[in-house]
Amino acid sequence: MKYFTCAADAEDVNALIKEALQIKNQPLSNAHLGMGKTLGLIFLNPSLRTRFSTQVAAQNLGMQVITMNIEKEGWTLEFKDGSVMDGNASEHIKDAAGAMSQYCDILGIRCFPGLKNKEDDYEEKILSQFLKYCTVPVISLESATRHPLQSLADVMTIAEHRGSKRPKVVLTWAPHIKPLPQAVANSFSEWMSFTDAEFVIAHPEGYELAVSFCGKATLCYNQEEALEGADFVYVKNWSSFHDYGKMPAVRGNWLLNPEKMKRTADAHWMHCLPVRRNLEMPDFCIDHPKSLIQKQAFNRIFSAQVVLEKLLLHKMKAYGREANSFTCHE
Ligand code: CP
Repeated sequence: MKYFTCAADAEDVNALIKEALQIKNQPLSNAHLGMGKTLGLIFLNPSLRTRFSTQVAAQNLGMQVITMNIEKEGWTLEFKDGSVMDGNASEHIKDAAGAMSQYCDILGIRCFPGLKNKEDDYEEKILSQFLKYCTVPVISLESATRHPLQSLADVMTIAEHRGSKRPKVVLTWAPHIKPLPQAVANSFSEWMSFTDAEFVIAHPEGYELAVSFCGKATLCYNQEEALEGADFVYVKNWSSFHDYGKMPAVRGNWLLNPEKMKRTADAHWMHCLPVRRNLEMPDFCIDHPKSLIQKQAFNRIFSAQVVLEKLLLHKMKAYGREANSFTCHE
């Protein structure tokens, strides 16, 4: 693995899930692998879980971590190549990425979509500039269209609780008061296509995800019908892809209730967090004995750790275990 931005970068998703679960059993078994190496975590947007869990993962490998909320603490960045920088931006991504690549051996980047320009967001205008100009491996800590470390933690959590039966997994849209990215829903759908499950995506009309992320999922406009016999229910809001970034009017009530929950096969309840309680998901569902929500958050450590291990090992193979820095300017 040279970088990690989506399921395809994993090479073998099911092997990666197994390795992550092995690491969970022995998180300090490679405590010296990252000795002398530095992970830089760059946030253009807020974070709690990604920031904490990735830092713990790096510490489990003996790495040092530098975290920067670049929007608040750094120079305003310009992402457009060739631009005359006579506006608000003080520094070009090319110069910032070049410098950071000399201080860090791996860089993690969080960059949400603007939700204004679909082409810019779905071309990953910001992440792609980091990938272009960083000379060390890059990990997506959530980009405009995907949240791969979250999705890996989610499929790990399902693998731990699925038993021997081929499960029915439902991703259901939920209400919210503001437009949210499609990244978690896109990414979960993408990763589910690598697992053996019946996968259903339920959402109101107007909230269809980009077809390229849906794989073999069954799409359903009726939440109650979708929940019938479900073993896992992943609850998440997202804004419209087609009427980009908007919140088309919704018919019916998409908030879960005890009657709807009874339709499932005593399902496990999932959410990536943060969640707006009783708006997006009711208290009794989040706090349900079969809720996996805190387990998903815990697994974020090991999804990050397996990816960091892979990147460290890849660079060691390329540059030698004793190399002081993995920085590669090829
Ligand atoms: N689930 C998740 O990525 O949480 P944060 O946005 O708090 O990092």
